[in-house]
Amino acid sequence: MSMTIRCDQTPTWPLLEAHFAIQGRHLDMRRAFERDAGRFAHFSQSAPHVFADLSKNLWDQDTETLLLELARDCGVERHRDAMLGGQAINTTEDRAVLHTLLRRPAGLRLPGDVPENAQRLADVHATLDAMLAYAEQVRADAAITDVVNIGIGGSDLGPHMAVRALAQFHVPGKRFHFVSNVDGHELSDLLQGLRPANTLFLVASKTFTTTETMTNARSALAWFSGRGGRDVGRHFVALTTNIGAAADLGITTTFGFWDWVGGRYSLWSAIGLPVAIAVGAQGFRDLLAGGHAMDEHFRTAPLARNLPVRLGLLDVWYRNFHGFTSRCIAPYHAALGRYSAYLQQLEMESNGKRVDHQGRVLPYATSPVLWGEPGTNGQHAFFQMLHQGRDVLPLEIVAVRQASHGLAGHQPKVLANALAQTQALMVGKSGADGHRHFPGNRPSTFLLLESLTPASLGALIALQEHRVFVDGSLWGINSFDQWGVELGKVLARDLEARLESGDVAGLDGSTAGLLDRLRGAV
Ligand code: F6P
Repeated sequence: MSMTIRCDQTPTWPLLEAHFAIQGRHLDMRRAFERDAGRFAHFSQSAPHVFADLSKNLWDQDTETLLLELARDCGVERHRDAMLGGQAINTTEDRAVLHTLLRRPAGLRLPGDVPENAQRLADVHATLDAMLAYAEQVRADAAITDVVNIGIGGSDLGPHMAVRALAQFHVPGKRFHFVSNVDGHELSDLLQGLRPANTLFLVASKTFTTTETMTNARSALAWFSGRGGRDVGRHFVALTTNIGAAADLGITTTFGFWDWVGGRYSLWSAIGLPVAIAVGAQGFRDLLAGGHAMDEHFRTAPLARNLPVRLGLLDVWYRNFHGFTSRCIAPYHAALGRYSAYLQQLEMESNGKRVDHQGRVLPYATSPVLWGEPGTNGQHAFFQMLHQGRDVLPLEIVAVRQASHGLAGHQPKVLANALAQTQALMVGKSGADGHRHFPGNRPSTFLLLESLTPASLGALIALQEHRVFVDGSLWGINSFDQWGVELGKVLARDLEARLESGDVAGLDGSTAGLLDRLRGAV
């Protein structure tokens, strides 16, 4: 089974440590630009639908050369090919990791020799065709005015982000809603404005066991019949790998997917149905095509011009050498309002791990904290800390060159602000006193899309997926499981029963004390 060699166990790791101590930690980007007229050209590049400027980062060509050597030592390319070829690289669950298959054109043979791949690709396209035909049917159905996606985590964040991002392409006459939280306030507020005859519920859950989604689905079903709704088959659809569990709940209109699609990578599967309804079959196919174009870039570009690889190498450089603990995400497009939340799950659930493939505790940090808000809002909230706080927090901007609205004067301001932030962070400004002093030399990455379309969004998401893969490959961890979410789920089930019974036997003092309070017993 393909696994990478852990970054700290390669011959290049000590060389990088030495390079960091002697040279890397002292790099001043302003001097580096003065020294090297080709710095922008070298550290910027195009990839499908995305232009990236990595030159305002704390590295130089010596650093990059060593990092590329690290990628070779670790076996990132071999691991990539194993993933793309359908090998079971999710070792703790013995599963293939094949979200890339979901955006692969029909009949295009996969690299590698896993025999079931041809059937898998045929199944993907059969489901895709059926799902897109259904999406078109819903789009043409004027009686359906509200589409409600009930799902959480990967069954919410991806479609929610994409539906919002592609608002300008939406079919007229339909509203899209996303309910994820088990807190009934969310569903209850939404239901007040809905009518059963005009509502389509999409119950999205890979496992069809997730408490939040099952609780919300049951409440939606009860509301539907309680308000005189008829024909669950027309008004409820399940998007799941567990068709049997959906049938048990009385939902028989279903679109399936497979265990080799991770939840946080499932936007491209049946989980993408709300996106397909919003933007249509062709729009969804364009999203897939954008993702596939990035897959091909990742598969074929040499490491030194491979954008996901370069971003991943920079991530490791920042996390493990500079010790930066977070990455601030700033999309300069209001429609990308859920982009940071989406990336949080993608990176932090994938790479928030403390052991390697063999279960050995790692001697280094893994996933940074991802956080952020759309620009320019963030500038008036937390950017102060980026410019003058004690911590260095790398910034990652996504800007979109062409606006899709017709309001005069806005877009130049948006673009100028995005550019000004990266400039200010790097250039800094010496002030009359400490309060007015900007130290500068603070890193930022600038990703640029020509316009926000299904295809460019698909490419951007696939870029981020592959970068997360590169991070995990270098760290020698399994980016495709999420055991860390299990304990809380088990304990919540136990405590729910105890809230009812009042039994505090065996609980620690704080949990017992709070349980009494929550029951209203004190
Ligand atoms: O709790 C974590 C998680 O398993 C995520 O990985 C997943 O995206 C989410 O829950 C939802 O799971 P499901 O799609 O099975 O409801």
